[in-house]
Amino acid sequence: LFTSGFVSNQAALSTILNSAPAGPEQRWICFSDEKNHASMIAGIKGSRAACSIFRHNDMAHLETLLRAAPPAAPKLIAFESVYSMDADIAPVGAICDLAKRFGAMTYLDEVHAVGMYGPNGGGVSERDGVAHRVDIIEGTLAKGFGCHGGYIAGDAEVIDFIRSTAPGFIFTTSLPPMTMAAALASVRHVRGDHARRAKLFERADALKRRFDGAGLPRIASDSHIVPLHIGEAGLCTEVSQRLLSEHGMYATPINYPTVPRGEERLRFTPGPMHTDAMMDQLVDALCAIVPMERRKAA
Ligand SMILES: Cc1ncc(COP(=O)(O)O)c(C=O)c1O
Repeated sequence: LFTSGFVSNQAALSTILNSAPAGPEQRWICFSDEKNHASMIAGIKGSRAACSIFRHNDMAHLETLLRAAPPAAPKLIAFESVYSMDADIAPVGAICDLAKRFGAMTYLDEVHAVGMYGPNGGGVSERDGVAHRVDIIEGTLAKGFGCHGGYIAGDAEVIDFIRSTAPGFIFTTSLPPMTMAAALASVRHVRGDHARRAKLFERADALKRRFDGAGLPRIASDSHIVPLHIGEAGLCTEVSQRLLSEHGMYATPINYPTVPRGEERLRFTPGPMHTDAMMDQLVDALCAIVPMERRKAA
């Protein structure tokens, strides 16, 4: 358990990737999805590992890079399940297949999936029945659990090694008991609340249908996240500000460098408690603000 999801990624990855003794053959190679979160990048950059970046969710590219790497070098594939900016989902099983073929470890960030995906909210790896094939699963106690803190899960030896050596674990105050009591209560509740999980996906589909019906250009999404393409930084900020000031609704503008220029967007994450009426209000507000030329024929 770490003080945040960010710290879990940074501390765990840098510790694993620094673990081999220095020397050319023993240097880790980290295969990292190009859309990985800043916390994973911080962990990889803070290590001595060589980093090999594969195109987002592109299995053929990952395979080419793995094949080109020295067979004896220790390898780790770092990736996410739900990518929150693009709202798409990694083929977790296919990545595990490649890892097995090329003798690589797997490190999966499930921050946007824990609590929400899988029969018990274990994440996409649980949903896809492959959690046992992933070496390290990382998650947050924020987001789906609504509290604070981060964690990694894996085989006892690996966890023990990280716990015993990671500066981000050792040299900081641990999370306070009251926060952890809240997180534990939340995990226990969320694990069993199947109806709420089903409702989340039903609500996400309802919002997607409404956006499509109104010609609001949403970015295709396999997940519960519904991004709306705006395509211009100033306009994206303006739409967000007017949504808040004129309609009392808050959606963060996502501009460069979080996404490439021209791909600016607003991101909506409906929750199980959002009603049809609330969604209608949101769509009406967006239709009043997003200029006609940015919309599609409904
Ligand atoms: C993919 C991903 N990993 C890790 C984190 C960090 O998690 P936390 O907010 O618990 O620090 C975030 C964002 O918050 C994230 O989007």
